[in-house]
Amino acid sequence: MACFESSALRVLAGWCLLAGAAAFATLGDSEEQPAAAAKPNPIYTFKADHDPDGIGKFYFGREISHVMGHLAADWLERPSRIVEEAPAKLIESLQLKPSMTVADIGAGSGYFTRRIARKIQPDGLVYAVEIQSEMLEILEANMKRHQLKNFRSVLGTERDPKLPASSVDLVLMVDVYHEFSFPHEMMTKIHQALKPDGKVVFVEYRGEDPKVPIKPLHKMTEAQVKKEAKAQGFSWIKTLDVLPRQHIIFFEKRKAAAPPPENEASRRPD
Ligand SMILES: C[S@@+](CC[C@H](N)C(=O)[O-])C[C@H]1O[C@@H](n2cnc3c(N)ncnc32)[C@H](O)[C@@H]1O
Repeated sequence: MACFESSALRVLAGWCLLAGAAAFATLGDSEEQPAAAAKPNPIYTFKADHDPDGIGKFYFGREISHVMGHLAADWLERPSRIVEEAPAKLIESLQLKPSMTVADIGAGSGYFTRRIARKIQPDGLVYAVEIQSEMLEILEANMKRHQLKNFRSVLGTERDPKLPASSVDLVLMVDVYHEFSFPHEMMTKIHQALKPDGKVVFVEYRGEDPKVPIKPLHKMTEAQVKKEAKAQGFSWIKTLDVLPRQHIIFFEKRKAAAPPPENEASRRPD
């Protein structure tokens, strides 16, 4: 999740940490331990001494952040988001068309699921993918309140968004990729879920910009996103910096090779 640094939002930062830690306790450890414990994982590295906002697990030198807990869902619906994130501009930049199939990965309370559903109705479909069933319950109530029916809730896992193969035109990930505890596995599955000409869009707070009042692990630089997506089998199309605080970074499936089994992180003595 996004964690603000400003003193005005210190309360938010406090719950962010608490909610994130609680969510990680229930979501993070279970898949980490058993079979893989004996042999080293070539994709990820681990450090005991790490940023408290992160989980101590590193991918391409980047520490993965805690997951935002569902108890913070109200924050995703805060009115100030309109000014801070200009959601209408983001939706416009996606160039959605009626009848498209879109996946909103890490959909949260459905803030963007609703906006996408409206834009592509009546025939288009949005998959709202979450790893927290509580978030999906909130999302479904919000969709009902807004009388939107062209969506499907999908309870994914930390490694798999559980989407049908070759079914999706566009994958949108707003403020979630930096939370993926298994980014390599998730992106391999997303690659498979996209149609041959499908696109994936990362929306992350700008890590290069010190004026963006978000904690470091909840921001990403454009260079880091590109480095990771390239290793996951995607080719960069364009980056739009039309939002107040976030990059919008578009990729398509690379036509040839599948993602390599190892990445740069495996060769780095972290
Ligand atoms: C900060 S919230 C953003 C929600 C929404 N995208 C928005 O902008 O309003 C991140 C959400 O991503 C979800 N998430 C984290 N890892 C995920 C994964 N591997 N698959 C699906 N959802 C995930 C969390 O449960 C959380 O609800």
